[in-house]
Amino acid sequence: MNNIRVLLVDDEADFRRPIAKRLDRRGFEIHEAGSGEAALDYLENTPVDVVVLDVKMPGLNGIDTMARIKEKFHGIEVILLTGHSSTEDGVAGIKQGAFDYLTKPIALEQLAGKIRQAHEKIRREIEKQREAEYRAKMEQQMIATERLASLGTLSTGIAHEIDNPLAIIKESTGYLRLVLSKAEMAGIPRKKDLVNAVDKIEAAVDRTRRITHQLLGFVRKQEKSFMETDLKALVDETVDFLGKEAMHNHIEIRVQARSQKVIWSNPYEIRQVLINLVTNAIHATPAGGKISIEIMDRGEGIGLTVADTGSGIPRENLEKVFEPFFTTKPPGQGTGLGLYVSRGIISRLGGKIEIESRVGYGTKVFVELPPCLSPEGQIQDDENICYEILNKIKGEPKS
Ligand SMILES: Nc1ncnc2c1ncn2[C@@H]1O[C@H](COP(=O)(O)OP(=O)(O)OP(=O)(O)O)[C@@H](O)[C@H]1O
Ligand SMILES: [Mg+2]
Repeated sequence: MNNIRVLLVDDEADFRRPIAKRLDRRGFEIHEAGSGEAALDYLENTPVDVVVLDVKMPGLNGIDTMARIKEKFHGIEVILLTGHSSTEDGVAGIKQGAFDYLTKPIALEQLAGKIRQAHEKIRREIEKQREAEYRAKMEQQMIATERLASLGTLSTGIAHEIDNPLAIIKESTGYLRLVLSKAEMAGIPRKKDLVNAVDKIEAAVDRTRRITHQLLGFVRKQEKSFMETDLKALVDETVDFLGKEAMHNHIEIRVQARSQKVIWSNPYEIRQVLINLVTNAIHATPAGGKISIEIMDRGEGIGLTVADTGSGIPRENLEKVFEPFFTTKPPGQGTGLGLYVSRGIISRLGGKIEIESRVGYGTKVFVELPPCLSPEGQIQDDENICYEILNKIKGEPKS
């Protein structure tokens, strides 16, 4: 209540001052104006909640002043003060949007009460508006999520459709290359150009297949069920798989497993995420750099970090790296789908993925996964069901 800001407008200073003083003593923040015009000027620069307006004033009268206030300033409530013989002014004022009116001489308690009520009305209006804004925002988010979901279905559908023809093109270029290498083809005209063309087709097909494979890893999940998933084993497998490339680039990969927890999840998809993350780290890290992979307990679930001493990600790109097709790699080298697909996988497995990065120092990706999902992929937040599933696969009693 202490913060209710009141503008008291009356041309008679002898009437206005004492009321202002008494309201001030009651904890209101009081501002004063001697005319309708002065009040309008005042409101241009000073925000107030409630305007107490004398109806009879020379120049702009109270009713006209109120009309202009309502027109120009939103969310201000007006209380009119009328002479005791002119209550019809007050009634007319309410019709035109006044919160209420009081007749002079006024009882201060009554005025203070009215101001509080008017303020309460403003507060409720603001709350209503916030609620409406929140609801509108949620609706918009839902529409965006649905749109993304159908985009996902569409893009994976397309990937599925073009993957087979791509495989055929790839196979046929292999055949062409073989034919071109035969002895009887040695003397054909423009052979070099033909070989070049085959190379180009193959490179383009490889690039397109990287895209379809990222997206299809995403879709295949629906056909697979969940199973016992040993994160440490998956990390080891990934490091084995990518170790050669790292070694070739003189990058050391270290694995630290602080947790051996087995979770109930989708190992195929998690492996796809791990390959994406470690590949990104290798690409970003210069010779002599390090990649550290850590596995740790995260509450009931399990956590993983992939940290590198590479180039880091500029702040303006941090938001964008999860967007589909965002890549800073040279044309033909990155699809820009790795992190987009990885985030899709992790969130469908009930987990979280976040990135922290400093340009020139390196990047750390955090992944968190829940301990168990039902065979249908539902997150089990019932601890007992969770242990049941895990004990079944581990054959261990609940500790
Ligand atoms: N560990 C990292 N260090 C620095 N930059 C990174 C790292 N991981 C991702 N990025 C940035 O995020 C971008 C997007 O990554 P994402 O994995 O989605 O696609 P990509 O690596 O460019 O392509 P692809 O995964 O198909 O090879 C990268 O191009 C790079 O700019
Ligand atoms: Mg990548």
